[in-house]
Amino acid sequence: MDMRVGENDFSQIIEADKAHVWHHLSQHKKYETVDPLIIIEGKGMRVWNTAGREHLDAVSGGVWTVNVGYGRETIADAVRDQLVKLNYFANSAGSIPGAKFAEQLIAKMPGMSRVYYSNSGSEANEKAYKIVRQIAHNKYGGKKHKILFRDRDYHGTTITALSSGGQAQRREQYGPFTPGFVEVPHCLEYRSQWGDVDDYGIRAANAIEEVILREGADTVGGLILEPVTAGGGVIEPPKGYWDRVQEICKKYDILLIIDEVVCGMGRTGTWFGYQHYGVEPDMVTMAKGVASGYAAISCTVTTEAVFNEFKADPSDPMSYFRDISTFGGCAAGPAAALENMRILEDEKLLENCTEMGQYLIEKLEGLKAKHQIIGDVRGKGLFCGAELVTDRETKEPVHESIGQAIVADCMSNSAVIIGVTNRSFNGLNNTLCLSPALICTKSDLDEITDGIDGAITRVLAA
Ligand SMILES: Cc1ncc(COP(=O)(O)O)c(C=O)c1O
Repeated sequence: MDMRVGENDFSQIIEADKAHVWHHLSQHKKYETVDPLIIIEGKGMRVWNTAGREHLDAVSGGVWTVNVGYGRETIADAVRDQLVKLNYFANSAGSIPGAKFAEQLIAKMPGMSRVYYSNSGSEANEKAYKIVRQIAHNKYGGKKHKILFRDRDYHGTTITALSSGGQAQRREQYGPFTPGFVEVPHCLEYRSQWGDVDDYGIRAANAIEEVILREGADTVGGLILEPVTAGGGVIEPPKGYWDRVQEICKKYDILLIIDEVVCGMGRTGTWFGYQHYGVEPDMVTMAKGVASGYAAISCTVTTEAVFNEFKADPSDPMSYFRDISTFGGCAAGPAAALENMRILEDEKLLENCTEMGQYLIEKLEGLKAKHQIIGDVRGKGLFCGAELVTDRETKEPVHESIGQAIVADCMSNSAVIIGVTNRSFNGLNNTLCLSPALICTKSDLDEITDGIDGAITRVLAA
C-alpha cells in the first residue's frame, strides 16, 4: 500500500476542504470543531484516510457503488486507453465502448434490447419518466401520463426524481413537486399495514391495483419499483408480490420500470435484482455498480417494443425521443463498464456474492440472537439490513441517534464503515445497512459483524 502519510502533510487539504467543499447529505456545523473524513486511497475492501488509518468498507464507497472493490488497475488502464483515443463525442453519434457495452449488457438481460446512456441514477430514471410521458402523449392524448412509485423507495435527487420518492424526509422542504406522481404502499411485511394477513406479498401488490383503480387506469402509464428497496431499509418484496405486480401492469397496460441503480451488476447475486423473480420489465435503470464508481455512467434500458414507439412515425418531426445527456457521451463510462463486467464474470463475483450474502445473513442472525435491539434481519446477496427496535413485541423503532451512534462507534473503535438509513423517514431511520464489495471474504464479514457486535454492546452500555 502506497501510504506515505508520514511523509505527506494533509493539513492544507483538510483546510481547503473545510473552507470550500460542501459535503453531500451533511450538516456542516460540526466541521467547525472536528475535521471531515477525507479518504485518500483504496485497495480491495479497504480505504485509508488522511491520518493514515485503515478502514474496512462495508458499504462499497458509502452508497453501495464499488462492487468490484478499490484499486482496479485494469479498469484504470481501460479508461486511460479510451481517453487518449477518444474522450468524448455527443451520444447522438456512437462510440466503440458504447456499442460493445450495450451488446454485452443486453446479453445479460433477456427480453431487453436498447441502452440509453446518461450519467447518474436520477437521470436514468428521469429518462424512463420522459419515455412514459412521451408515449402517453403519442398514444393516449396525454392522458395516460401518471407514474406510480412506492412508499420507502428512492429514485434520485433531482426534483422530478424526488417527486417519485417514497421517503418523506428526503422530500421535505423541496416541494412543490412535479405533478403526476402517485404513491403506492410499501411491501415491508415486518411493518405490515394490514395486520397479520396471509399472503402479504399478494396483499401489498393488490394495494397497487387499488391505487390504479382510484386514479383511473387510463391515467396511469408507468410504475417504478426497486427490486429490493435499498436506502428505504433493505426490503425484499415477499413471496407472490412480483407475479401479481406483473399481472397488474399487463392488465392495465402500465409500463413497469425497475430501478436497478443499487441492485444492478450483481449486488444481489444475479446480474439484476429483478432476475430473481421472473419479472419482465419494460424498462430497467442502473448506475452505481455499472462501472463500480471508476467512471460516471448510467443506463436506461428498454425493450424493443418501447424503443419502437419512438421510430414508428418518421413523418412526425416531434415523435422521436428528444432527449440528450451531455455526459452520456463520455466514452470513459462504457470503457470502465466493460472491464467491470469482465471482472465480475472472470472472478465469479456473482457466485461469491450469493455465498457471502448467505454467510452475512447467518452472522447477522447470530447478532440478533445476542442483541434484543435487533428486531429484524433481512437482505438479498451482499445487500443486508438489521432493523433496530426498543421492543421486539411492539417493534417500536429505536431513536435514530442510536443507529448513528452504532455507526460512529463501529468506525472509531473497529475501523469498520457501515451505514444506517439516513434522513429518510420520520421515526424510521433505524435500519443498519451493509453492502460490502462483491469480492469480500468470510474473514472480512467476520470483522464487519464483530465490529457491529462491539458497537452495539458499547452504545447500549453507555
Ligand atoms: C435506488 C436508487 N435509485 C436512484 C438513485 C439515484 O442515483 P444518483 O445518486 O446516481 O442520482 C439512488 C441513489 O442512491 C438509488 O439508491
